[in-house]
Amino acid sequence: MASIRLKHNIFIFFIFLTFFNLLVFSYCIDYFDATDHNVKRQVNCPLVTDDSSKYSKRKFAYENNEPKLQIVDFHCDASKEICSNVENTFLKAGNIISEIILLKNPLLVSVNYTNICLSEPKLCNIQGKIAIIGAAHSARNMLFLDDDGLTRFYPQSLVKQYELDNHPEFAPFDIIATFNSLVNWKFPSDYDTPIQPKQIDMLYIVLHELMHGLGFGSSWENWFLTDNPNQIFITSQPDFIASNTETIFNGFKETAFDRQLIFNNDYTHLTDITIKLNQFAKPNTKFKNNTDLIVNFINSKQVVLSEYMNKISTTPNTISSYPKSCNAPDRAILETTIEPFRNGASISHFDQSYITTPDFLMTTLQVPGKTLYDLVRQSGGIHPIGPKLQSILECIGYETKRNPTPYRPKLYP
Ligand SMILES: *[C@@H]1O[C@H](CO)[C@@H](O)[C@H](O)[C@H]1NC(C)=O
Ligand SMILES: *[C@@H]1O[C@H](CO)[C@@H](O)[C@H](O)[C@H]1NC(C)=O
Ligand SMILES: [Zn+2]
Repeated sequence: MASIRLKHNIFIFFIFLTFFNLLVFSYCIDYFDATDHNVKRQVNCPLVTDDSSKYSKRKFAYENNEPKLQIVDFHCDASKEICSNVENTFLKAGNIISEIILLKNPLLVSVNYTNICLSEPKLCNIQGKIAIIGAAHSARNMLFLDDDGLTRFYPQSLVKQYELDNHPEFAPFDIIATFNSLVNWKFPSDYDTPIQPKQIDMLYIVLHELMHGLGFGSSWENWFLTDNPNQIFITSQPDFIASNTETIFNGFKETAFDRQLIFNNDYTHLTDITIKLNQFAKPNTKFKNNTDLIVNFINSKQVVLSEYMNKISTTPNTISSYPKSCNAPDRAILETTIEPFRNGASISHFDQSYITTPDFLMTTLQVPGKTLYDLVRQSGGIHPIGPKLQSILECIGYETKRNPTPYRPKLYP
């Protein structure tokens, strides 16, 4: 999620009116609203077989002139000229990504360029001084089995690059993106005039958001919502299926990104907490309903782990991503300064101090009045995708020149 600071340093937090609005999932989860990860649905994504000639006949996207990113669904509430600038910005961002990531298959994106403040005023709550300017998310996450025995959610954009003969059925696009048309955007087509102090470079924000779409994001969020907003339980994503008659719980599940997360004080993995959280209930445990599941969790021994995670993830300099096996010289400290915890922002970004370094791209707050390449130049970087970010993408499993045989999880089950 991309946000800018409006005057004061206060963050909005969302109050969800629904008590518990995530529904069901097992192997695939589809996301429908880039600005709200809770709007999701478990979908059947049976294994399908691709015609194997499809892969052998076509050249890799990085070897031919095929666009590296394609907008397959475009909703644009603006003039023809602006819409064409928006489209052009996405294509440029796709090219920048493919300078680092070797994409065998292009990224298919659904873009919604609209007045977010009109349709979802809570995201533009000026009282809260932070406005959402854009957001993106993987359109479909797929459950795969990792080499440590845990199943984790992998983004469709990555699974496509595996070119498996048998793969979980793909959604029509890989990434959903929503951008706020109210923002005073600077488009790349306008780079010959200087950016104004209050303008925001769209290429900068689109690239940031596409990183989330590629899988830069944590499952550690506030999932168990109660009617008491002061009660915050931070867990990895609870996997359950709710029907009219029961709620079947299948454990807490991480994303591929979470596999590299460590605590700064002792370098132990956050995954250790997920394993402990999963002592709450065996896979396939039945609860009467969602409320019953939450009440049981709140009364369990494991609730203290989620309270501890809330404390840790709202204390500065406590959590890092350390993709040790992927050329990472050092860990990257993650965002844990936001109080109260904010879904989509906390943990899923770099610490704000990186804004002046070559890894400026994934900080929580974006700076107006600078273009993407101003920031590369000022930070002494060589590419908008900085070294720490590149290592994280490589360890999630993306192929790069220096990482030609990336780690790959197994199909599950
Ligand atoms: C675009 O986003 C707005 C705000 O989230 C939403 O109300 C609208 O339905 C979306 N339109 C499409 C076509 O997805
Ligand atoms: C859920 O189950 C509990 C325990 O049986 C019951 O008290 C409660 O009314 C149920 N809630 C809903 C929303 O059905
Ligand atoms: Zn973000």
